[in-house]
Amino acid sequence: MIDRQGAIKISQMMETIIPKDVIAHGHRVGNIAYRVAVELKLSDIEKRDVVIASRIHDYGKAWVKKEILRKPGKLTADEYEEMKLHALYSSQIAKMHKKLRRHGEMILYHHEKIDGSGYYGLTDKQIPLISKIIVVSDIFDALSSNRDYRRAYGTDEVIKIMSNESYKYDRRVFEAFLRIVDCKNLKPEYDRNLSLN
Ligand SMILES: [Fe+2]
Repeated sequence: MIDRQGAIKISQMMETIIPKDVIAHGHRVGNIAYRVAVELKLSDIEKRDVVIASRIHDYGKAWVKKEILRKPGKLTADEYEEMKLHALYSSQIAKMHKKLRRHGEMILYHHEKIDGSGYYGLTDKQIPLISKIIVVSDIFDALSSNRDYRRAYGTDEVIKIMSNESYKYDRRVFEAFLRIVDCKNLKPEYDRNLSLN
C-alpha cells in the first residue's frame, strides 16, 4: 500500500523520468479534454478524471524506443506491438498510485476508436467515456504539433482531417469537441475551477 508521502515521491520521480515533451503534450491534451468535458456538462469528478488521465496517458512512452516513437513512415508489425505497449505502461504507472488506480483503465483505452480500429479493438459501448474524450483531444494535439518529419497542421486543416474520420469517434464527444475548437480559445480553465491535489 502506498501512503501519501510515497505517492508524492512517485510523482516527483516520474517527472524526472518522463520526457518533457510527453509531459507538455499531456498538459495540452488535458486542457482540450477538460473543455470538452465542460461542454458535455460532466460532473466535477469526471472533469477531474479527464484532466488527470490526459496528463498521464502517454507517460509509458518513456519505455518505448525513440526510433519507433519518431519513425516517420508506417511501423512494422513488431514496432506497432511495441508502440501499443505505451498505453499499458501508462496505465500501470497510474495503478501504482492508490489515488490514480481507477484512472488506469481510462488510460489503457486512450487509443480505442468506436469502429474497433484502436489498439485493443474495443467498440463504442466498451470504451470508457473519459477515454473517448482523450482520444479526440490527443489526435487534435498530435496533428496540431510539429513532428521531426512534418510541420504542424493549422486548426482548420486538423478539423478537416478529423472530420473525414469522424466515424471513429463518439458522436456526442466529437460534436462537443468541434464546438470548443470553433471557439479557438483552448486556454486551461481547470486550474481555477478544480483542485487536482
Ligand atoms: Fe498514446
